[in-house]
Amino acid sequence: MTRIDPNMSRTWHRSVLGAAVLGMGVLLEGTSAGAGSMDETPFGNTQDGKAVNLYTLTNDRGASVKFIAYGGIITEINVPDRWGKLGNIVLGFKELADYESKNPYFGALIGRYGNRIGGAKFMLDGTQYQLAANNGPNSLHGGTKGFDKVVWAVEPVGGASGAAARLSYTSKDGEEGYPGTLTVRVVYTLTNDNELRIDYEATTDKPTVVNLTSHSYFNLAGDGTGGIDDHILTINADRYTPVDATLIPTGQLASVAGTPFDFRQGMPIGARIRSNDPQLVYGRGYDHNYVLNRSGSGLSLAARVYEPRSGRIMEISTTEPGVQFYSGNFLDSTLVGAAGQQYRQTDGFCLETQHFPDSPNKPSFPTTVLKPGETLKSTTIHKFSTDAS
Ligand code: GLA
Repeated sequence: MTRIDPNMSRTWHRSVLGAAVLGMGVLLEGTSAGAGSMDETPFGNTQDGKAVNLYTLTNDRGASVKFIAYGGIITEINVPDRWGKLGNIVLGFKELADYESKNPYFGALIGRYGNRIGGAKFMLDGTQYQLAANNGPNSLHGGTKGFDKVVWAVEPVGGASGAAARLSYTSKDGEEGYPGTLTVRVVYTLTNDNELRIDYEATTDKPTVVNLTSHSYFNLAGDGTGGIDDHILTINADRYTPVDATLIPTGQLASVAGTPFDFRQGMPIGARIRSNDPQLVYGRGYDHNYVLNRSGSGLSLAARVYEPRSGRIMEISTTEPGVQFYSGNFLDSTLVGAAGQQYRQTDGFCLETQHFPDSPNKPSFPTTVLKPGETLKSTTIHKFSTDAS
């Protein structure tokens, strides 16, 4: 077993001379004058003995994002409230063992396929691929051992826009039933504008399907402060994809008008969550994909969330066609967070930018097929501000 040595911590700082310099004296790749720093410290060992480090990206304004190599899990996002006080706004655990044994995807990178594939199977080029049914009859979030449960390689990266780290993982041909060797790179950047930028890239050596996302549970009032009912949510979508009782889209793109799914004007999350709408009953709350209003293929505003007590605002822009709004319906008091408090239903919400669930079985949805020679590129930005800024 690898021993944890606190002296192994190291910090990378961006030098004003235009190169990234390792605290221990090693010169790293990166040529532009930048900002912020990345700190690396041991976090624990996996049950099978792999050492896992915790990384902290800190920007010039003191905001920070912490993540671990296991699952690429974002364990903390510390951003200011309206009085300038930093606080952590994502749910998480204290110990690696909790992330390994009972994580409801807190903060994790999700792949190969974010959300569900119906019947845990799909056809591609005349071949049927069978996946693990890990969510009733369906496959959820990449299967039994998705990208949320693998140890990613992490390295600091250069760039002028902030503190950044690249996470890499190569998924073997046939892993979790999916065809093709999939090479994935994800860059987390914390900019000096208090934006968390997530850039995804993937290539394959055989045709396959891919849908990558990030699964932070947010509570903008602060982790452990209770429910998220009063957060005011706006989603830039006229339509959503209704689901069946197992949460697989029916294929229909339904109008949100006149339904509890209409967040085109800011509405408290809790205002209509108890409506007797069959869709909300299936999801035990919101657990639905929204069809984003977009023009072009660039970054476009997906959602905005405002928390009135802290004054914090989060705006999400993405290149993806959809966002899964999940109101933390399956959280229960068996989960105890890093601050020692138990979590309960709706103590956090997720806005997972993505392609639509079950796209491999829904030819009318935007395709999730990736072919050799192509590079999947996707970007999502979470911009944090307050009503005082
Ligand atoms: C996604 C799914 C939900 C649930 C959560 C994690 O949001 O759509 O049904 O699985 O992840 O529990």
